[in-house]
Amino acid sequence: MKKSVFITGAATGIGRATALNFARRGYFVGGYDLDEAGLKVLEADIAAVGGTGTVGHLDVTDVEEMSTRLAEFVAAAGDRLDVMINNAGLLTAGAFEEIPLATHHRDIDVNVKGVVNGLHLAFPFLKSTPGSTVINLASASAIYGQAELANYSATKFYVRAVTEALNIEWAGHDIRVIDMWPLYVNTAMTKGVSTGTTQSLGIRLTAQDIADDIVAAVDAPWTRRTLRQVHFPVGAQAKTLALASRFSPGWLTRLVNKQLAHK
Ligand SMILES: NC(=O)c1ccc[n+]([C@@H]2O[C@H](COP(=O)([O-])OP(=O)(O)OC[C@H]3O[C@@H](n4cnc5c(N)ncnc54)[C@H](O)[C@@H]3O)[C@@H](O)[C@H]2O)c1
Repeated sequence: MKKSVFITGAATGIGRATALNFARRGYFVGGYDLDEAGLKVLEADIAAVGGTGTVGHLDVTDVEEMSTRLAEFVAAAGDRLDVMINNAGLLTAGAFEEIPLATHHRDIDVNVKGVVNGLHLAFPFLKSTPGSTVINLASASAIYGQAELANYSATKFYVRAVTEALNIEWAGHDIRVIDMWPLYVNTAMTKGVSTGTTQSLGIRLTAQDIADDIVAAVDAPWTRRTLRQVHFPVGAQAKTLALASRFSPGWLTRLVNKQLAHK
C-alpha cells in the first residue's frame, strides 16, 4: 500500500514543488487549493513524473470543505493519511496601520484558522495511520517579530506554538508534528514584496529548496528523531538566525532585527 500525503495550497510555489517531490517518491498525493487551473496543471505534472494522486478545490478556512476533502482523500488513499502538510498561506507586507483591517483578518483566517482546521479535522486519520507526520509551514519570521510583516509574523508564531505543543501532545498517538522555517522564498508570495529585510537579506531560496527539506524532514534519520527536532530552519541564513536567537540576549536580538529591517 502506497503512503499518502495531503497538501493544502498545492497549486503553486512550495506546495506544488512538495507535491511533485512526494509523487516522485511513490506517495499517493492529494493536492488542494483555491486555484483550480493551477491544480489541473499539477495533476498533469504528477502523472508526468509517474506519480498517482488526486486534486481538488479547498478553501482551508471552510470547515465543511476541509472535512469533506480529507474524508474523500483518505478513502481514495486506502484509509491512510501518512503526511498532512498545512501549507496554504497569505502574506501582506507594509506598515501595520496602513494595511486594511479586513486584510489582517483574512490573513489570520488562512494562516491560523486554516491550520487549526487542518490539524483538528486530520487528527482521526493521522491517529489511525501508524507513524504519521504533520508538517506545518511556519517561517523564519517565527524566530523574532518582523517589522513590516507584523501580522504575518504573528500568524507564524501561532504555527510555531501549536507545532511545539502538539509535538508533545500527539507523540502519545504516534503522530510526529514538526514545522519548517524558511526565510524568503522566490514564489508568487514574495513577488513585488520590498521590505527592509528583503533588501538586506535578499530572496534567495527556491520552492524546490523547501520541498527538498520537507521530504528530508519526513524521512529524518534516527539521530534527528532521537533528538526530537521540532523546527526545521531552511537555508544558511535561517539556520544562522535561529541559532543566534537562542544564545544572544534579548536586546541584541532586537538590535539585529532592527538593523536587518533598516529601521
Ligand atoms: N514565500 C516565502 O518567502 C515563504 C517563507 C516562509 C514560509 N512560507 C510559507 O510557505 C507556505 C507556502 O508559501 P508559497 O511561497 O508557496 O506561497 P504561494 O503564494 O506561492 O502559494 C500559496 C498557495 O496557497 C493557496 N491558498 C491561499 N489561500 C488559500 C486558502 N484559503 N485555501 C487554500 N489554498 C489557499 C494559493 O492559492 C497558493 O496556491 C505559506 O504558508 C507561507 O507562509 C513562505
